[in-house]
Amino acid sequence: MGNLPTVAPIAVLISGTGSNLRRILEYQHSHDTAYEVSIVIADRPADGLRWAHQYGVPSVVVPWTGDRKAFTTEVCDRIAGCDWVVLAGFMRILSAEAIDRFPGRIVNIHPSLLPAFPGAHAVEAALAAGVDRTGVTIHFVVEAVDSGPIIAQREVPILPGDTVDSLHARIQIQEHDLYPAVVDALAAGRITAGITT
Ligand code: GRF
Repeated sequence: MGNLPTVAPIAVLISGTGSNLRRILEYQHSHDTAYEVSIVIADRPADGLRWAHQYGVPSVVVPWTGDRKAFTTEVCDRIAGCDWVVLAGFMRILSAEAIDRFPGRIVNIHPSLLPAFPGAHAVEAALAAGVDRTGVTIHFVVEAVDSGPIIAQREVPILPGDTVDSLHARIQIQEHDLYPAVVDALAAGRITAGITT
């Protein structure tokens, strides 16, 4: 008798609308995924928590107090036992403790083709730079922000007349397609590159 495939419990961390969380949950419910969202963490009463409620996933608000060390410890304690930590529009920078406790197991999605346009205003920055394409990057999280090893990227064209909203909407179509598939591939062990410890 073969072993039953295991399903990896994952934590999703959000701060905003949670459209990527929604897609990760939808994908889980429509595919035979190697992951299962077991907890959603937000640093504020984020709109996206509605998706956790809708899918019956436990959620916790860990309010940001300005104390990064204490905040990180509480988040890590809440998600202990998860195999993967998926940042999906999470607007806080965790301290090194998170990397130590989940080595090579924290991933983030960023709305540009890193290393171009790191930081919190990547869509605005790409528009302001006058480039004709930007995109999406999914990467492993390391201590330096938006700098970890890249797992997957998708290009998105910048069209004449684009606004931040229209461009971000086009980027998010790609995010929603890519992120659940990449999370599933990681959970299934189909992507093994990354940080070794
Ligand atoms: C995404 O564009 C992601 O790339 C960035 O924050 C946004 C989150 O969107 N890090 P949502 O909350 O998943 O809708």
